[in-house]
Amino acid sequence: MYLENLKLINFRNYNNLTLNFHAKINVFVGNNAQGKTNILESIYLTSAGKSFRTTKDRELIKFDKDQAYIKVEGKKRYTDIVVALKLDMNKKKQIKVNGVTLTKNAEILNNVYVVVFSPEDLKLIKEGPSERRKFIDNEISQMKPNYFYHLTQYNKVLMQRNNLLKKINHHRKYMDTLHVWDEKLLELGTRLIKEREKFVQRINPLSRLIHRKITESKENLEVKYMTNIDVKNTFEATMESFRCKLKESLTIDLQRGSTTVGPHRDDLGVFVNEVDIRSFGSQGQQRTSALSLKLAEIELIKGETGEYPILLLDDVMSELDINRQKFLIKALRDVQIFITTTEVDYLNQLELNEEYVFYVKNAVVRNASI
Ligand SMILES: Nc1ncnc2c1ncn2[C@@H]1O[C@H](COP(=O)(O)OP(=O)(O)OP(=O)(O)O)[C@@H](O)[C@H]1O
Ligand SMILES: [Mg+2]
Repeated sequence: MYLENLKLINFRNYNNLTLNFHAKINVFVGNNAQGKTNILESIYLTSAGKSFRTTKDRELIKFDKDQAYIKVEGKKRYTDIVVALKLDMNKKKQIKVNGVTLTKNAEILNNVYVVVFSPEDLKLIKEGPSERRKFIDNEISQMKPNYFYHLTQYNKVLMQRNNLLKKINHHRKYMDTLHVWDEKLLELGTRLIKEREKFVQRINPLSRLIHRKITESKENLEVKYMTNIDVKNTFEATMESFRCKLKESLTIDLQRGSTTVGPHRDDLGVFVNEVDIRSFGSQGQQRTSALSLKLAEIELIKGETGEYPILLLDDVMSELDINRQKFLIKALRDVQIFITTTEVDYLNQLELNEEYVFYVKNAVVRNASI
């Protein structure tokens, strides 16, 4: 799919902006703090309903204004798509897809498909397991809105169970209600585990292939789903093994007042030539692996939905060597790409021939290509 245009009113540092996009490559060039990432952020918002930089919608509204408005129009294989968001300082945000107001904001998922790659994504490999769980969760949610619902429910149940564990330490009578929460936790948790396992099984060969190409076959990438539950073939059997683990850990859970087993403790193992690069990888290896995973995500979304997602590359091109940049552009021939950069020089080396270049200066955007 691709976006044809974007309209912003009072979003971040923009007053009123309308941009028409190139179906292939769109480059935003400008100094720091001019509004380049703000444009990518607004596009991301039409996909996920939230920002990749903040959880506070209010920050997205222009200083001193009460409302902000974002709208994109795009083309999918068989349909056109229009997504519009209205953010309000005092009210819940309102989202419209093809003119229809959504009753639940989570319904925005599955309309505009977006993959972002930013320097933050280096964290994906380097930081703790929660970053990698977030990666898995975001990707599956984009393809399966139901997953997002189950995840939210699981987190609620987990919190309730943890509260109860703390209470039991004071009053044993609460013990009777524990099994009620356990059942919910088991059922929702097993759903998450099975989906995550499936996701990793699919992303593994895709990212390995891409990684091999980027590294000219020098590196063999392997991602592994790491969970403290024994995953079995069927849903029921997996739920049973989760049940056993939960029983075994009851004493320790009571001591700690928190649940020590379950998918909230999952991780994604990332290995290059059988070495765990979360701990032992070089910067370059970590960066390339993150890139391979992100590119695999594009293929996966294409496989799952029939549409190529849009790719947002925020400040990452200059971090990759020229061969990797060239590989990226070549490998993504069918993907609409939005690039931000402070330097325009390297673009010439890339020999792009299907692009718009936009110059961004203090929230004024000039299309230098037409
Ligand atoms: N709610 C807001 N209202 C008005 N201006 C804002 C708001 N939020 C952010 N800004 C301004 O937007 C600018 C930052 O924009 P952005 O993050 O897009 O910069 P950038 O061009 O990507 O810069 P860099 O190259 O450093 O990444 C800053 O000047 C900031 O003050
Ligand atoms: Mg930026």
